[in-house]
Amino acid sequence: MAQMLAARGYADIVLIDIVDGLPQGKALDIAEGGPWLRFSSTLTGSNDWADTAGSDLVVVTSGVPRRPGMTREDLLGTNAKIVRDVVGKAAAHSPDATLVIFANPMDAMCHVALEASGFPAERVIGQGGMLDTGRFRTFIAMETGTSVKDVSAWVLGGHTEATMVPVTSNASVGGVPLSRLLPPDRVRAVAERARRGGAEIVELLKTGSAFVAPAAATIEMVDSILLDERRILPCCVRLNGEYGVNGAYVGAPIRLGAGGAQAVYEIPLSDEELEGMRKAGDAVKELVAATPRE
Ligand code: LAC
Repeated sequence: MAQMLAARGYADIVLIDIVDGLPQGKALDIAEGGPWLRFSSTLTGSNDWADTAGSDLVVVTSGVPRRPGMTREDLLGTNAKIVRDVVGKAAAHSPDATLVIFANPMDAMCHVALEASGFPAERVIGQGGMLDTGRFRTFIAMETGTSVKDVSAWVLGGHTEATMVPVTSNASVGGVPLSRLLPPDRVRAVAERARRGGAEIVELLKTGSAFVAPAAATIEMVDSILLDERRILPCCVRLNGEYGVNGAYVGAPIRLGAGGAQAVYEIPLSDEELEGMRKAGDAVKELVAATPRE
């Protein structure tokens, strides 16, 4: 993420980690690529949160990743503790920042971050739908033999296999409905592959999970917030009745810009997709109830 953001050239970047030398080494390594990658962004590595003071945006990547056989939900206890600690420190030093939450299980971690920061909900946004949407679009392009540039498709709902809602009802390629490009069983297969997209990578890598696609998806959000681009993107936000979900963090189309989630939109969904949104809301509420408080 830091490397991708540095290449954009508009932001000063601070990398924070508890391991002495790690963020300093990473920051220096990325900065030293600048002459050849042609950027001159300022990168700092630190173990001290004071160095992040006054940040406009904080991406919370802290937490342990999955190993093969684990679900994102299995990370709940360990990562809740880490996210609570990190978000408390980030918020104390940057009270006006927008938080982008990335740690898993992401939907539940948004609730932890909301509480730990005391920020308004529009400034605590989760990254998951963007990544899953990137995967869905990629698989649709592969399956239809078309360019991913022309694929318009969204994954809403939760960022777990059980709660993801790959929206097939309005997916299209260059305006051609997906249902005209693929038979129903192939449409179901690409949706299923998107659901298992994270696990597919974990199974292949064996030690750790995806890096590049999650980073690209996150930095697209960072651009929209810091540059106030007001893009409409699938992100995890606290819904207040939209899609029949109240008070739970679920992925939905939002207008993302300065100050975070500026608007949430309800788009037409099939009955099954709508039911999926409600189930995602119920599932995250259950996870929140099961999250250790300390
Ligand atoms: C994934 C993890 C990062 O989906 O949630 O790859």
